[in-house]
Amino acid sequence: MKILVVGSGGREHAIVWKIAQSKKAEKIYCAPGNAGISELAECVDIKAMDFKALADFAEEKKIDLTVVGPDDPLVAGIVDVFEARGLRVFGPRKNAAILEGSKVFSKGLMKKYGIPTAAYEVFDDPEAAIKYLENADYPIVLKADGLALGKGVLICKDRKEAVDGVKELMTDKAFGSAGDKIVVEEFLTGKEASVLSFVDGKTIKLMASAMDYKRAKDNDEGLNTGGMGNVSPNPFYTKEVDEFCKKHIYQATVDAMAAEGREFKGVIFFGFILTEKGPKVLEFNARFGDPETQVVLPRMENDIVDVFEACIDGKLDEIELKFKEDAAVCVILASGGYPEKYEKGKEIKGTENFKGKEGCYCFHAGTKFADGKLVTNGGRVMGITALGKTTEEAREKAYKATELITFSNKYMRHDIAAANR
Ligand code: AMP
Ligand code: GLY
Repeated sequence: MKILVVGSGGREHAIVWKIAQSKKAEKIYCAPGNAGISELAECVDIKAMDFKALADFAEEKKIDLTVVGPDDPLVAGIVDVFEARGLRVFGPRKNAAILEGSKVFSKGLMKKYGIPTAAYEVFDDPEAAIKYLENADYPIVLKADGLALGKGVLICKDRKEAVDGVKELMTDKAFGSAGDKIVVEEFLTGKEASVLSFVDGKTIKLMASAMDYKRAKDNDEGLNTGGMGNVSPNPFYTKEVDEFCKKHIYQATVDAMAAEGREFKGVIFFGFILTEKGPKVLEFNARFGDPETQVVLPRMENDIVDVFEACIDGKLDEIELKFKEDAAVCVILASGGYPEKYEKGKEIKGTENFKGKEGCYCFHAGTKFADGKLVTNGGRVMGITALGKTTEEAREKAYKATELITFSNKYMRHDIAAANR
């Protein structure tokens, strides 16, 4: 099969790496890809949002399957464009990707179908939101309805911060029309868990659990980022939590989408907070997580192309997903200054050290070749993943492997998967 992957991050590198092991994959393309991906796939210079050019390319190259990584193209309807042209594609249609694309939609769905989540109110008028904040409990959480590059969630410790937040989202439109409506939500406390799943419209099969480290600095300090590291399995995702989510959340979400006439095919990413009163859904994503994918796929034993096809064909019930017992830890190497200001174009050395290194992977995120040299090209530069018999072993291996890579202003957290985290 000829397979096209859309996207350019560490998630897409992990997906391409996994596809490359499939007995079905003859040729892999990636648009636009990055330097690391270009070792496994032919990278083509088409942006993820240029649907017409991507579909033209898929037609011209007779691509048998396209896999879409990022949220933006899914929410904007790339799958509908491909399907309308008779092209086979893995991911939810626009009417199902709304599960991630609109927080107002996803909260409404959970309320209607009794899926546990934080209590909330929706506002489309800043004055009404500000009035509501007069008698609210603090801290409180404000969420832009639409996609906001992962930055549309504000945790406000008091009324002043919340009023400023409403102005930022709704009046100043910091994230454009994503802030036309906002969700004002109860602040929950507890450990977080990420669970990825494959869905074929009716059947859901879970991948391994993971834990994301979202803050930029050690001890969960600093700004929110796209994710500074990950561990799988998530140490707090116990058997009891799993049973609760199986009973009240996973199938319920898939069935709710189907009942709404929004059959979901693709990956649903469940973001949970494990509160004292049980797990609650913080968010849904309609795609693989990043860096979650970088710890989950190295543990997966199935041929991923079989799974993609089963999802598209509505035959996921015929697949048994298998995961290694090993733990996986991913440490993100970032450009100093991320997620705020950082420099690009720093030469990266040491990637050759990963060749043939069993159970150790270097997934590229923001990298490119310039004048024949590998250089940094983003805030998150690479994810270094290692497998181990235990989390501790995986963690030690991953941190040791981070030393193999050098570039100026290399930054990472040092407490990913640490025992006390
Ligand atoms: P999201 O962009 O929806 O993943 O939210 C980003 C982060 O904000 C989450 O990972 C949580 O750490 C935090 N967050 C979101 N909603 C809540 C909430 N209701 N209570 C506490 N923390 C939250
Ligand atoms: N790591 C969180 C996300 O992919 O949204």
